[in-house]
Amino acid sequence: MPEPLIDGVIRKIWIDRAGPYRDHLLRLDKESRRNRFGGAVSDEFIENYAELSRGLDSVMHGFFVDGVLRGVAELRPFGKELAHEAEAAFSIEKPWQSHGVGSALLERTLLAARNRGIKLLHMACLANNERMVDLARKFEAELTFDFGSVIGEVEAAHPTPMSMWRELVADTHGFATAMLDVQTRMMKPA
Ligand SMILES: CC(C)(COP(=O)(O)OP(=O)(O)OC[C@H]1O[C@@H](n2cnc3c(N)ncnc32)[C@H](O)[C@@H]1OP(=O)(O)O)[C@@H](O)C(=O)NCCC(=O)NCCS
Repeated sequence: MPEPLIDGVIRKIWIDRAGPYRDHLLRLDKESRRNRFGGAVSDEFIENYAELSRGLDSVMHGFFVDGVLRGVAELRPFGKELAHEAEAAFSIEKPWQSHGVGSALLERTLLAARNRGIKLLHMACLANNERMVDLARKFEAELTFDFGSVIGEVEAAHPTPMSMWRELVADTHGFATAMLDVQTRMMKPA
């Protein structure tokens, strides 16, 4: 279910995600942007990158504050159907870092990976990003990392009725919150 994190909620992003994702990535401060992409990248690169997210093959969880996307976890399977490997990437805007948002997003991403039979998780720029390494270490019970090769192995990478149910419940609550967000924005005075 969507975690009540500081002042926001986490839910899957299903549709219309390229625009909000682009705006969120462009708002990242210089250091976070470099850490997210493993090096300095231009605004144009980000615009093209966000556009790619229109495809339905990636699972994206967003952290929303007042309806604005402030954090994202992206799970992008390698290849098309029945991929057993995926890349995971995280981005949280500076004011919301170090408040447990990354931990909550990784938890949801791991559940989604498990339910899709993903066994190997490549964490973008993990090895040279200390906070990301700290974050990944918190999930050692669920994820085995070889920090040298920036690949994590998802433990028990097969869905169970319980793990499917957990994701379903989280999505249902996320959808309800999404509708609430829309209503709240519609009711706000212009
Ligand atoms: C890396 C990132 C995803 C972590 O998310 P976060 O919400 O800041 O992390 P959390 O608050 O969940 O903290 C996770 C762990 O990191 C460590 N940590 C958090 N804040 C820290 C700080 N200011 N200094 C050092 N370690 C810190 C702690 O070990 C923490 O676990 P704990 O709270 O149980 O002690 C986020 O900071 C971010 O988006 N950074 C910019 C982009 C990036 O680096 N992406 C990752 C590569 S794809």
